[in-house]
Amino acid sequence: MKKNRAGILGTGFYLPDEKLTNFDLEKMVDTSDEWIVERTGIHERRIAGKTMATSDMAFNAAKMALEDAGITPDELDLIIVATISSDRIIPSTACMLQNMLGAAHAAAFDLTAACSGFIYASSVAAQFIESGVYKKILVIGAETLSRFINWQDRNTCVIFGDGAGAAVYGAVDGEYGILGFDLGADGAGGDYLDIPAGGSRCPASIETVENKLHYLRMNGREVFRFSVKIFGETILKSLEKADLQKKDIDWLVPHQANIRIIKTGAKRLAVPMEKIIVNLDKYGNTSAASVPIALAEAAHNKVFKKGDILALVGFGAGLTWASCIMKWSREE
Ligand code: UT7
Repeated sequence: MKKNRAGILGTGFYLPDEKLTNFDLEKMVDTSDEWIVERTGIHERRIAGKTMATSDMAFNAAKMALEDAGITPDELDLIIVATISSDRIIPSTACMLQNMLGAAHAAAFDLTAACSGFIYASSVAAQFIESGVYKKILVIGAETLSRFINWQDRNTCVIFGDGAGAAVYGAVDGEYGILGFDLGADGAGGDYLDIPAGGSRCPASIETVENKLHYLRMNGREVFRFSVKIFGETILKSLEKADLQKKDIDWLVPHQANIRIIKTGAKRLAVPMEKIIVNLDKYGNTSAASVPIALAEAAHNKVFKKGDILALVGFGAGLTWASCIMKWSREE
């Protein structure tokens, strides 16, 4: 057994106050509450106010996680922010957050893996902790996708929401923490979910703005097909690395994309719905923030017991996917 493993010492989350319901959306695009609930399970989502950006939500989630872990910002060695909606192209949101927190000794970088971002970032953090290079790492998933949504496109605007989730990682007894993870990518599917303009391939211009190319585009059916397939496959790989089986999962914490994806994926793993953390009805799909918000909200509601086996899974743009198995180490 490993001497030190990376485990979660504290969690936090933040959601903006403003709610956008399906009934509000009925007034904006040709859709209905019935269609959205039946096809996605989402009832409402949160939208960041005009003056709030990704770093602000990340900051609120981070403060809660640091307090929960009982550590101060100057104890942090590294900050990783998983996001696809950073405040600016440069500097990174992680650097902004480092400054906002006053985490003077922390290195900081952003990680782009869309809805898989928090699990990707957690597995990076685990390498630094297990090697002994760093002791305390703040991992955040934070998104203000409302700024990248075309509010006239019913294919996307009914799905996404804003928010942030955070976890502080540190060394825990070798029996606990991250026992196994699986990361993957299929860049050939990159066009299924993208923001075409604003980068070096298609720089911002009057034409790109007029053609709405700075907004998120999605081929929902293709992403759906990919998601239901990869959900179980990646968790099975993580379970194998952790030397565990499907029946050992106490809690499934999935990316909150669509209740139909979660139900199909969970059925293949034979995990009953009462063992699955679901909050997409309230918050929609918050991309990189979705897994850490679900994790932190459940942790603060004292859902997990010490020794519980958690399976986390994310999938999305890239295409990317990621899962990890962790044994909950916190006494509640
Ligand atoms: O976070 C990253 C990962 N993202 C995901 O996992 C998203 C994966 N995809 C999905 O969740 C689903 O594909 C959606 C919820 C986006 C769409 O559901 P769907 O059951 O795949 O619908 P569809 O795209 O096959 O469209 C079915 C019909 C179409 O009409 P026709 O062509 O059959 O006449 C759409 O135009 O539903 C129509 N439609 C809508 N109708 C009312 C699409 N969006 C809406 C809408 N309201 N908002």
